Amino acid sequence: MTYEQAKNVLASHDQAHVLQFWGQLNDSQKEALLRQIEVLDFSSITRMQALLKNAQSKVSSSSPFEPAPVENPTGAELETCVAEGEKLLKEGKVAVLLVAGGQGSRLGYDGPKGAYPIGPITHNSLFWFHARKVLGLSQTYGVHIPFYVMTSESNDAATRAHFESNDYFGLPREDVFFFIQGMWPALTPAGKIILDTPGHIFMSPDGHGGTLMALNRSGAFDDMENRGIRHIFFFQVDNPMVEIADPAFIGLHEIRNADMSLKVCRKRDGHEGMGVVVTRNGHYEMVEYSELTDEQMERINPDGSLWLAYGSPAIHVFSYDFLKTEAARAMPIHLAHKKIAMISESGELIKPEAPNGYKFEKFIFDIIPNAKRLVTFEFERKNEFSPVKNATGNDSPATTQRDLQMKWRTWLEQLEIRVPDTLSIEIDPAYALNAKQLREHGLRIGC
Ligand code: UTP
Repeated sequence: MTYEQAKNVLASHDQAHVLQFWGQLNDSQKEALLRQIEVLDFSSITRMQALLKNAQSKVSSSSPFEPAPVENPTGAELETCVAEGEKLLKEGKVAVLLVAGGQGSRLGYDGPKGAYPIGPITHNSLFWFHARKVLGLSQTYGVHIPFYVMTSESNDAATRAHFESNDYFGLPREDVFFFIQGMWPALTPAGKIILDTPGHIFMSPDGHGGTLMALNRSGAFDDMENRGIRHIFFFQVDNPMVEIADPAFIGLHEIRNADMSLKVCRKRDGHEGMGVVVTRNGHYEMVEYSELTDEQMERINPDGSLWLAYGSPAIHVFSYDFLKTEAARAMPIHLAHKKIAMISESGELIKPEAPNGYKFEKFIFDIIPNAKRLVTFEFERKNEFSPVKNATGNDSPATTQRDLQMKWRTWLEQLEIRVPDTLSIEIDPAYALNAKQLREHGLRIGC
């Protein structure tokens, strides 16, 4: 893109100020700025500006909703689900998709969140646990299970380097597919693009909803198509307890002919910050924690249980066809009022004390209402969910390591092995994905 082209396109979108400091930039800064302008998604920016105008007068939807029914297959039904899921896994029809493009600001770790050393003994990373599970599944079912990893511009190189320096954790390289999510500019309350240096537009990842467009753009969908993938297991980077591609979950999704399935678990308490799956006006929907009133969070059923008892930890299965169709549609855009360091009109760096601009994101769960069939599948939290979100307190490395050890301790107890509380435990998922495999493979103890 030339300077003239950039000037015209910016002027036509009322963003001429982006080139305000052009005269002060050196050649490489000019080139980099033109590259940024060239890939700006102006149709989304126009939608963001409209959203900003409406935000001031926005009244959130007050139409009533009900918690979505939750399934918990047991006995013969569960066995049928497991058999169906295992069949699909053996046939190579299941892909694994990890979203790891987030900024991990609450954890405050210097590097991609996935590289955080969570192993209680080995200090192996979150990525290590996820990749070793994919390897364990591939070995168990005798197939190549493709592993799609979404990064963002800010952590892509470091993520790839982490996989590289760990020899892809034993996975064949051709089965690991990295792709980068989109980035969006932030806007001032007046809808103007924010510069963080005189020659650079401030950009941030477009949210986990950006997965769809990124799957399309990167060729990941084509790769899935070539491999004959039917279902995609989706999960987040921060939960090393996740049962990746759990056959029961995949099987139930298939048997119900669902477009999308969500695992849900009992919330710690009504106020736990998890989204809830509901039905509203004949459609399924995710209601975010921030949209719930205190009364809704605390409401109790006649039997004493919480009305909104189940939360979603973003563990999903999507049918390939559904995800591909959704990728062609525009998704809703959400805005967040944030403190953003920016260059003022006079060229000075302003470090704000209070929120001064808006960041924009897409959320993957916004496609839920478009699902013709949807399943919510209950799981037991202590077996599958303990995320690393914060540096300390709830959902921090300390609680995740405690919960991982409790899970492995339970497996060993099933083998009638009692480990003193003073000893740490760690089990390589590529060696045993569950207690049954541990029994089959026997114990190999390393210290
Ligand atoms: P979170 O909402 O927990 O955000 O992301 P985060 O970036 O990891 O952490 P904070 O909020 O800054 O502390 C949930 C999952 O979605 C992914 C994250 O990598 C994580 O796996 N994600 C989030 C993306 O892939 N892209 C995004 O733009 C946002």
